[in-house]
Amino acid sequence: MVQINLPQNSKVQKGKYYKDKTGSKSLRKVNIYRWDPSTGENPRIDTYEVDMDNCPSKVLDLLNKIKNEIDPSLAYRRSCSHGVCGSCAMNMDGKNGLACTKPHDEIKGDINIYPLPHLKVLKDLIGDLSTLYKQYESIEPWLKNTSNKNEKENLQTKEDRSKLDGLYECIMCACCSTSCPSYWWNGEKYLGPAVLLQAYRWIIDSRDEDREDRLKKVADELKLYRCHTIMNCTNACPKGLNPAKAIAELKKMLVTR
Ligand code: SF4
Ligand code: F3S
Ligand code: FES
Repeated sequence: MVQINLPQNSKVQKGKYYKDKTGSKSLRKVNIYRWDPSTGENPRIDTYEVDMDNCPSKVLDLLNKIKNEIDPSLAYRRSCSHGVCGSCAMNMDGKNGLACTKPHDEIKGDINIYPLPHLKVLKDLIGDLSTLYKQYESIEPWLKNTSNKNEKENLQTKEDRSKLDGLYECIMCACCSTSCPSYWWNGEKYLGPAVLLQAYRWIIDSRDEDREDRLKKVADELKLYRCHTIMNCTNACPKGLNPAKAIAELKKMLVTR
């Protein structure tokens, strides 16, 4: 898997060191990015010694343990704890993923945890996803079908339904978009892999009647063609999806329609 180089921020300082107080023989060091922009202070890396004998297996368990037992000021998003909501996406050991599905014993040496790369930081591990959500809204991610006036189900063949496999599972966690160098540099205009996968998901839905308009809306030098097939997105997806392929399919549809 591709490791993502985090951008160097020369202002990140060494922060506080939280020494173990339990006397455990099974300690791991966890280095976590901390920053509250509202304080005017610089970002820092705090280090926590954590008793691993009493810690369940995932990185999210580790963060919960730190928050509950060592430092309640640590901020991060989480909800479902089962890889479904996408809210605990972060950068662990140099790779984007979901903290609730990533086993910490897969990480050798110190455990380094950062927010998703290249997002504005709201606090600690919480990145600002407002631009991504606006872009998501711009592709109108809902079924558009006006001819089915009898208000019955919009039926679909099994074959057409299967075209949505590998797409409908996307949880909009942003691991892919924030691992894409094109999105890092052009994130205001380039839609990025998460939103383009979603655009493709609606374009190929046999029940949707807005395909042409949807295609026209993404057929743009900046919105779509800033993808240069770098493939970090597909390597980063914690759900095993392939946003790079979805983007390639969109480009193919545009030349063959
Ligand atoms: Fe997350 Fe994968 Fe969807 Fe990207 S394609 S938003 S990485 S689930
Ligand atoms: Fe970026 Fe993936 Fe394209 S990493 S450049 S969106 S193939
Ligand atoms: Fe929901 Fe991790 S907490 S995906």
